[in-house]
Amino acid sequence: MQPATLSALIALVREHTGIAMSDRKSVLLERRLRPRMLALDIASYQGYVQRVRDDDAEVAHFIDLVTTNDTLFFRTQHVWDYVEREFLPRWWRAHPDRTLTVWSAAASSGEELYSLAMLCDQFAAHAPGFRYRILGTDISRQILAQAGAGDYAGRSVERLLASHPDWVAKYFTARGDSLRVVDALKRHVTLAQHNLLKPLRPPSPFTHQQFDLVFLRNVLFYFDQEHQQAVLQQVRHSMAPQARLILGESESITGLDTAWQFERPLIYTLDKPPS
Ligand SMILES: C[S@@+](CC[C@H](N)C(=O)[O-])C[C@H]1O[C@@H](n2cnc3c(N)ncnc32)[C@H](O)[C@@H]1O
Repeated sequence: MQPATLSALIALVREHTGIAMSDRKSVLLERRLRPRMLALDIASYQGYVQRVRDDDAEVAHFIDLVTTNDTLFFRTQHVWDYVEREFLPRWWRAHPDRTLTVWSAAASSGEELYSLAMLCDQFAAHAPGFRYRILGTDISRQILAQAGAGDYAGRSVERLLASHPDWVAKYFTARGDSLRVVDALKRHVTLAQHNLLKPLRPPSPFTHQQFDLVFLRNVLFYFDQEHQQAVLQQVRHSMAPQARLILGESESITGLDTAWQFERPLIYTLDKPPS
């Protein structure tokens, strides 16, 4: 790929997703874009750049191809221990008459939000009347369609089978070589396409709602500092008082946006955290 074409592609990635790619990503971009170019009968990368510029319908495909969607059930276990043992009991004591609302803000194929749904369902067994709703958003429509299907196989379920065999039996049904999330969990979940750099217009039933818990995990590190600040500003508007923001492994926003208070590694609040 010519350096000028690579620069144009990197600029398009930033324009449409906010993701900051270095020019060391040329092999990755070539590998991901090549099959699409073949399908469209476009012979050169410059030709594909032009297609993305000219054709709004191609932008969605482009976004699907340039985003990285790695995820797992119960990724970073200590975060889930915190949600299960501290966040949910404390939230429920403070709000016994409300519905817990959670936003999985870079939901990818859904493992994160179904992990949470399983925890909430388990919690509800000991907290009669506990209700919850989860909004899952991602910029990639293709990966959200996978989250909606809720079909998982391979590495995604191997670890879950090993760690939570009883939950797999309860919350999944076998479909050939894969496992499908049961409707009883799916009905707590709403999915919507959303670019984190834009204001969130929550779909029903979240309209005008602020979230009690926001998962913003393993996505900030794709952005440069300017876009990280912009995303955090957007997310702030969607947080209820006392809400918690959860980041991904090794991510930190300390020093990036002074409105956030550090509660413990990966967990932040806009209010003074409990002492
Ligand atoms: C590595 S996955 C993280 C999935 C999950 N949160 C986790 O921690 O396992 C990153 C996700 O961020 C999404 N993403 C990238 N840029 C985005 C943007 N500007 N707005 C919303 N989602 C974005 C990608 O499509 C991808 O699914």
